[in-house]
Amino acid sequence: SRTLDDVNVTGQRVLLRADLNVPVRDGKVTDATRLERLMPTIRELSEKGAKVIVLSHFDRPKGKVVPAMSLKPIAESLGRILGKPVAFSPECVGPEAEQAVAALKNGDVLVLENTRFHPGEEKNDPEFAAQLAKLGDIFVNDAFSAAHRAHASTEGVARRLPSFAGRLMQAELHALEAALGNPQRPVAAIVAGSKVSTKLDLLNNLVTKVDILVIGGAMANTFLAAQGYSVGKSLQEPNLHGTALEILKNAAAKGCEILLPKDVVVAEKFEADTSTQVVNVDAIPDNAMALDVGPATVENFIKRLPEIKTIIWNGPLGAFETKPFDTSTNTLAQAIAQATKEGKVISVGGGGDTVSALKLAGVHHDMTYISSAGGAFLEWMEGKILPGVEALSKIFSNYG
Ligand code: 3PG
Repeated sequence: SRTLDDVNVTGQRVLLRADLNVPVRDGKVTDATRLERLMPTIRELSEKGAKVIVLSHFDRPKGKVVPAMSLKPIAESLGRILGKPVAFSPECVGPEAEQAVAALKNGDVLVLENTRFHPGEEKNDPEFAAQLAKLGDIFVNDAFSAAHRAHASTEGVARRLPSFAGRLMQAELHALEAALGNPQRPVAAIVAGSKVSTKLDLLNNLVTKVDILVIGGAMANTFLAAQGYSVGKSLQEPNLHGTALEILKNAAAKGCEILLPKDVVVAEKFEADTSTQVVNVDAIPDNAMALDVGPATVENFIKRLPEIKTIIWNGPLGAFETKPFDTSTNTLAQAIAQATKEGKVISVGGGGDTVSALKLAGVHHDMTYISSAGGAFLEWMEGKILPGVEALSKIFSNYG
């Protein structure tokens, strides 16, 4: 595949698709992880003397100009992290954007306004893509986390310019390939979170690919209820019992071992520091709800760790944002981080909540790889083709 190693960028106008869609509160970036992850690509391009033109969406303005969704404050944060001024253009196409680009000197960095202020972005309108493409000599895509969107700035532009994967894109693709494409076996997946319904495609794909599948979170309640356990007031999806049983059957047919909770932490109320009880899954009281998997369940999985070579993790095991329901997620995260540090396992995590949970557990630096992506990570794990990645690989063969 074509990367920054395959092109001389000096003096070139490089249109860089980044994902500046970061959490912002009161005009301030509350988590700059995505900006930090872009640094290797931006620094390399700038140091090599490229004119770096950063393209991104932010939030969901639906094709209209929404001032609160301007990229301007995010461009300022980017400049602070980069340690040098970053120019900003209040338009991403047309004469104003063209002038801002023309003013760039080698090594300069410019951020263009939110591409989603134009309806052509999400429609992947060829005309809009052409207007964007006009601003650059080459296209570098470093927005793996937006690659599941076939939009003008992710997919359309890649068809119009010589295109290359940025360093973050490369790292993401490499890590996911190592986790699911061509992993060292046995490979285990941990899939948790609140709903089976949002993870159906994921579960169906994983049972065909992994050797062990750990199911946690409230979605495990649906599986338990489907198997006839009484889950009390626990969150679950009664209309998905049939589907859950089907998944268990498919897993058995494919030789994928499913680990469901053996015990759970229950409470009568879902609130911080409420009184809790650990019960076996066949003894969930009628007036209680399961809010975390229990210690025996976590122990059971930790005991299996020595035989596992690769772990892919999506979704916290319990209601981790409310203490003490972060306990099992933390315990398991620490055990996996330890095994990773000792070189015994390759561990890859991704998806919005998963990353927050691993950060809270304090182990995100110890995992082999943490994806910067939410939805795109999920779609990749579901086995779907990501249009942004696909367009790059097409271009690889066109230009390669
Ligand atoms: C994300 O945060 O997952 C990406 O930036 C994509 O955002 P979207 O879901 O609004 O397309």
